[in-house]
Amino acid sequence: SSSMYVEYRGLLLPPGAHNAESLEFAQNFSVEDSDVFVVTYPKSGTIWMQEILPLVLNGGDLTPIQTVVNWDRVPWLEETRLAQVVDKLPSPRALVTHFRYSFMPPSFRTSKAKVVYVMRNPKDVLVSSYYFHQMATFLEDPGTFEEFMEKFLDGRVFFGKWTDHVKSWRNAELGDRILFITYEEMVQDLPASIRHISGFLHRNLSEEVIQKIAEHCSFQSMKANAMSNFSLCPKEYMDSDKSPFLRKGIAGDWKNHFSSEQLARFKSVITKELEGENFSLPWSL
Ligand code: PPS
Repeated sequence: SSSMYVEYRGLLLPPGAHNAESLEFAQNFSVEDSDVFVVTYPKSGTIWMQEILPLVLNGGDLTPIQTVVNWDRVPWLEETRLAQVVDKLPSPRALVTHFRYSFMPPSFRTSKAKVVYVMRNPKDVLVSSYYFHQMATFLEDPGTFEEFMEKFLDGRVFFGKWTDHVKSWRNAELGDRILFITYEEMVQDLPASIRHISGFLHRNLSEEVIQKIAEHCSFQSMKANAMSNFSLCPKEYMDSDKSPFLRKGIAGDWKNHFSSEQLARFKSVITKELEGENFSLPWSL
């Protein structure tokens, strides 16, 4: 059953980190023009951007990733933690959210705040989420992979349907306030992605700084960084013996999990839900 979740405007959210107070705080949040939001559907590259963005914004100073735990460094808009750390955020502020566009606070719409939207192939999102549900105690037991796929396709998972998330941000018409990048292009060429993000945010980073950021934001570096690998998260919330948060860090792990029937079903549901949209996905399903 999904009863362990908090239900908010039809969306299922994990308890503890999300409550009525944090959701009200998010709605009343006063967005500043200089704010930068990382927006992701869960398991699409959130913590990766919590590593990259502060370094792009500060010109490659490693202090934030070496001294501040990721959930305080780039806090989630919707989580309880934000109220406690918001006054300590350096300027420009970097935040993350898993919200779809319609859940953003009114002050976001009228601001000039920018968005880096990270999108990941939904087949790999599903696989990553499946393992995350096994290790995170604030998420319901996923059941079998097959059962979990059905929940995912129905949106009976935290933050709802993947397609609703993507559609809402693709259709938001934020013009040059939003940059769409993919997890896959980050895996393929991280320095190029960092160059892209720094251009979008009007940061003039030298090639040396770009390479330095890429090196410190690699999967291996993050796995070894206690401020980023969730080793500081109590075991009662996440049990990394079951599956580490930084699990594989690759594109295409879905090939090790989907049967051909599951692949056909997955493709047909996602394709149908995106029918008539005026954008196309950056990868084939
Ligand atoms: S969450 O719970 O929504 O915040 O999770 P999120 O951070 O969005 O997604 C977790 C997946 O991102 C992978 N990850 C990385 N891959 C490559 N390189 C780096 N540096 C990196 N950092 C995080 C992480 O391993 C999860 O994917 P899977 O496929 O499970 O390994």
